[in-house]
Amino acid sequence: MRELLDKLCRDRRLSREEWRQLLAHRHSLDRQALFDRAAAERRAWFGDRVYVRGLIECSNICKNNCLYCGIRRDNRRVPRYRLDRDTILACCEKGYGWGFRTFVLQGGEDPGLTPEWVAETVAAIKARWPDCAITLSLGEFDRAVYQLWFDAGADRYLLRHETADAAHYGRLHPPELTLAHRLDCLRALKDIGYQVGAGMMVGSPGQSADTLAEDFCFLQDFRPHMVGLGPFIPQKDTPLAGEPAGTLEDTLILLALVRLTLPKVLLPATTALGTIHPQGRELGILAGANVVMPNLSPPDTRDKYTLYDNKLSTGAEAAEHLAGLKQRLAAIGCTVAVARGDAPQ
Ligand code: 5AD
Repeated sequence: MRELLDKLCRDRRLSREEWRQLLAHRHSLDRQALFDRAAAERRAWFGDRVYVRGLIECSNICKNNCLYCGIRRDNRRVPRYRLDRDTILACCEKGYGWGFRTFVLQGGEDPGLTPEWVAETVAAIKARWPDCAITLSLGEFDRAVYQLWFDAGADRYLLRHETADAAHYGRLHPPELTLAHRLDCLRALKDIGYQVGAGMMVGSPGQSADTLAEDFCFLQDFRPHMVGLGPFIPQKDTPLAGEPAGTLEDTLILLALVRLTLPKVLLPATTALGTIHPQGRELGILAGANVVMPNLSPPDTRDKYTLYDNKLSTGAEAAEHLAGLKQRLAAIGCTVAVARGDAPQ
């Protein structure tokens, strides 16, 4: 185990078989040593600065039916909403005042969010706050649409690959959604020039050391600029409602391994991690994460973006309480950067 970890730190990659071994025995690693190594790597690239992103959940309408997701098409229990452009701009205005310099527009695959509407919204944000970065996280589209949004001023795109194992992908998604198409989208985004985020849930039903080995082989080859990684949390109105959640321990171990594989990566301590443990975000940062994404959506819509049960949107998770987040980060020796926080070259 120790040799595999040393090799990873030296070469920033392992063979598939080595990944399988490391991941199968990940619980016998010296955890504190692993986290300290990952945190040292984070510090070498970013110092003690943590980047914040203001997350604006534009729409919870979705044409897809992913088995794990609370805003899947077939969930009739969730009241649907779509923000209009003025509301989104008002969120940015508030966020800018609080110090946010990246806005993340995230939403379901809502046919009502047309490519033109999104492009005009991106352009409107860029015109008013030219020193800000815009991240989109709106799902799978044709390359031409991604290009349109890039040309309108979008800088980054988050599209988790969810799992790099095709059979596992099939267990989490309906048949019309495929891993091959997801990977095509990721490649197109990178090719266009976006800073690209991939990622996966930890402990999703059917995940194993073997499927995780596929994830790490994919990450070390594709080398995304960002990796979104948080625990799977069951949502009561989905087909996976009865499955167990991913654990804190596993999430921290995998965050640390991502940091050691991709030292410069932008790696959020996710809302899901904050949801399963009161200190989740801080522990994530101590295990190598360097980004936090507080919720900048209008407070009265937050309870409708229910990807999973008990999703946090208050306290340090809420953008309006940035002061509280700063205090919590200060307690672990970190500061919040007022900066776009682009991926290092
Ligand atoms: N638990 C944890 N994460 C989830 N996501 C969707 N549903 C869940 C869930 N039940 C994640 C997916 C998606 C991101 C926006 O949220 O990985 O890519």
